Amino acid sequence: MNNTAIQLIRVGTGDVNALKEIGINTFNEAFAHLNTPENMAHYLNAAFTDQKLLEEVSNPCSEFYMARLDTRVIGYVKISHGPAQTELKDEAGLEIERIYVLQEFHGKKVGQLLFNKGLEIATQMKKTYVWLGVWEHNAKALAFYKKNGFEVFDSHDFWLGDDLQIDLMMKRYLI
Ligand SMILES: CC(C)(COP(=O)(O)OP(=O)(O)OC[C@H]1O[C@@H](n2cnc3c(N)ncnc32)[C@H](O)[C@@H]1OP(=O)(O)O)[C@@H](O)C(=O)NCCC(=O)NCCS
Repeated sequence: MNNTAIQLIRVGTGDVNALKEIGINTFNEAFAHLNTPENMAHYLNAAFTDQKLLEEVSNPCSEFYMARLDTRVIGYVKISHGPAQTELKDEAGLEIERIYVLQEFHGKKVGQLLFNKGLEIATQMKKTYVWLGVWEHNAKALAFYKKNGFEVFDSHDFWLGDDLQIDLMMKRYLI
């Protein structure tokens, strides 16, 4: 795959259907085999409604970018700052809230491209650090973040349906 053929597109309100599709597909690919169908459905039905996605895309403190190969969406990233961050809500921080790539494209630097976009925005905004939360058992993502200079600074509870999971909070300083 030639990565110069991948375009990063800022997601607008007209792209909610495409965002919903890539969001559900990548979440299922990543986590369906590790969780009950009920807990997956509970999360997906709450997180990926048209209304919720529309609100998120319209939030001036959030930005979504989709990675597109020709006409196909193969991954996306959501970054949030200020009050749109899920926790901390520190003006000095920027959250990489979601970063997801279709399984068949893993290991081809698509995640890196999406991550670099987040880093670029954080640098432009003169943020001090980038942070994120990641499930403690998500070894792939943990390796990716460690490779990108993140370190664990805390851990928080996260409910996936009725399953209490631990998210590791990771941070990378920019200056
Ligand atoms: C995490 C994720 C976004 C990484 O994207 P990717 O496109 O596969 O990663 P890249 O190909 O861009 O890799 C970038 C660097 O990270 C490293 N890396 C990526 N996955 C890795 C793994 N599983 N183990 C070790 N290193 C890894 C690569 O080696 C690469 O470094 P290199 O240039 O020195 O080789 C992707 O695996 C994914 O979508 N996973 C499922 C969804 C998910 O868990 N998202 C995170 C939720 S918190």
